[in-house]
Order: sequence, then C-alpha cells, then structure tokens
Amino acid sequence: MPEPSLMGGSMSLSDKIKQMRQEFLAELQAGATFKDFENLKVKYLGKKGPVQALMLELRNCSAEERPLLGKQINDLKEEFTLLADENLTRMKVRELDDRLEQEAIDPTLPGRRRYPGRVHPVMQMMEHTIEILQGMGFSVRLGPEVDTDYYNFEALNFAPDHPARDMQDTFYLNEKWLLRTHTSNVQIHTMEQFTPPIRIVAPGRTFRNETISSRSHVFFHQLEALYIDRHVTFADLFATMDEFWSKLLGEKVVTRFRPSYFPFVEPGLEVDVRCTACRGKGCRLCKQTGWLEVCGAGMVHPNVLKAGNIDPEQYSGFAWGMGIERPTILKYDIRDIRQFWQNDLRFLSQFP
Ligand code: DAH
Repeated sequence: MPEPSLMGGSMSLSDKIKQMRQEFLAELQAGATFKDFENLKVKYLGKKGPVQALMLELRNCSAEERPLLGKQINDLKEEFTLLADENLTRMKVRELDDRLEQEAIDPTLPGRRRYPGRVHPVMQMMEHTIEILQGMGFSVRLGPEVDTDYYNFEALNFAPDHPARDMQDTFYLNEKWLLRTHTSNVQIHTMEQFTPPIRIVAPGRTFRNETISSRSHVFFHQLEALYIDRHVTFADLFATMDEFWSKLLGEKVVTRFRPSYFPFVEPGLEVDVRCTACRGKGCRLCKQTGWLEVCGAGMVHPNVLKAGNIDPEQYSGFAWGMGIERPTILKYDIRDIRQFWQNDLRFLSQFP
C-alpha cells in the first residue's frame, strides 16, 4: 500500500487534503479484518501521522486561508475516525456472529445419557442387614480375609481331623495361612481385643474351594454376629433371631430352630424361616418344604470362650452366621449366583 503522500512540494494544502482523503478511502475499501481497520486508524490519526502533519503545515498558510483549511483538516480527522470506527464495529459484530454460530447449540439433539454408579445388590443386602443389627445394639467389626488356621479353625474348637479343614474346602496358602472359610474367625480376634459385654457384627468375604455353579461360588459373603455377657441364655438367642429375621424379611416371618452341629457352639442350631414366597405351602423356592434355611447359630462353646481369654464360668454368649447371597437371591428371584460377579452392567443396573 502506498505511503500517504505528505508534503508533495508544490501541491497546495487543499489538494493534499483531497488526495489524502482519496488514499484513505482506498485503503478503507481494501480493509478486511478488525486488525486492518485498527492499523488504518493508527496510521492516519496517530500523533506522528499524516493528518497531524497537515495540521503542522497550517503554519505556512496565510492568515485568510488558515481558518478554512483548518476546518477542512478537522473535518477530515472526524471523517476518518467515524469511518474507521464504523468498520471496527462492523467487524466486531461479524466476529461475534461467527462465534455464536460456531458455539450454537442444537436443542433438538438428544441429551447424553449418564450412567450413575449403583451399590451392588449383595452389598445393598449387607448394608441393610448391618443397619438392622446396629439398631439392635451391635457394632461393626472387620476381620482379616487371610488368616491363620488357628483363628479360622483351631480356636473355634475344630478337631484336628475335622472334615472342614480338608484341602477340598479350604484354600490354604501354606501350612499356617489360609483364606478364611467363614466370618467366624472374627469371634476370636474380637474376644482377644475386648472384654464382655461384646456385641458385634462382622460382615465380609469368605472363600471355599468349591466347584463354581449356579448355586455355589469360590467366594461369597457372610455376616457373623456375636453377643457375650453375663447370663446370656438360649432364650436371648431365640428372641434376638425372631426380632432380627422379622426386621429383615417382614413382620409376618416365622422362624424355626433345628438342632445342628457346629464345633464352636453348643448347642448348635440351624435357623429356618417360613418360605417368604409361598408362606409355607411349598413351592419351587423352598423345594416344597415350606421352609428356607437362613443361618447357623448356637451358644458359644466354652472352649471358644477360653481360647478368647474369657471365663466360661462367668460369661456366656450366642453367635450366628449367615450368608448374604442367599437372602439377596430370595429377594430378587435370581437363578444363577454367578451373575453377581460377572460385572455385567445389564444385570447390575437392575438394582436401584
Ligand atoms: N460359620 C458357619 C458356616 O460358615 C456358620 C455359623 C454357624 C456361624 C453357627 C455361627 C454359628 O456363629 O453359631 O457355616
């Protein structure tokens, strides 16, 4: 672009003004961006620019010419400013329009779906069960999943040749260490750490070396409850069981107790509840018996109390252990236990 012609020797000031206007208008025409017009404004109207130079030249004019020429230069200045500013505004608006167009949102597009996490159905059942027991005065204790033969078996009064110790059931890590086969291991740990009254609930994962099928898995979840105090009797166990199972399964639940054997309790019981699906008439769920087996229970064996440094002459207690998968299966009518651990979101997202 040509430099605006300044004091072209012989040219009159009036001609110079006209020429500068032509040049300015030509450059204005050529301008395409905001920056172009900004530069144009600075170039012509800056302190050391050509318009200012014309002003200085006024000094050389005669007194009669000066007012008219002075006015012309001022008009020129005003016109330049106006034209440049007009274009600057136009550019700004266009820029904003472009940006708006780019950033425009299409409100007719379908929204992106979010998939919030959910609590696993087995954990929901676990949490619900714990809440009920906390409401009944039990506090939560956690025990190790990897434990020793002593806590899992020996201290719980398992004879050295008890079949549950057999390699077929237990994952042994070595002679001493194993994966706990039940949450009953927490009993001894708790007795070692606290003195009665003890009223704890111990939820957690347990492991058994079984063939994986629709009904059994190599790991599952249990919840152990333990209550030790002076004068705890069988009646306390019955009453607590009744209360607990009706809180978990509904007011109308009926419990039934059958004698059974577990090394760490004496006497030992198996607890059934009347089938929640058929109310005792017999159905597929209860295999026509009218009853569902829900937990093992009993009065803590004196040998177990002794192993936990508690005097069986002064204290007695009861304990029970229940699986968590079983009531979850009953609640949702799940046919294959493996579904719990396949991490298939189609399955897992069904439990809000
Ligand atoms: N630990 C037993 C099992 O895994 C269940 C059990 C039975 C726990 C009787 C107890 C109990 O506390 O008293 O089969």
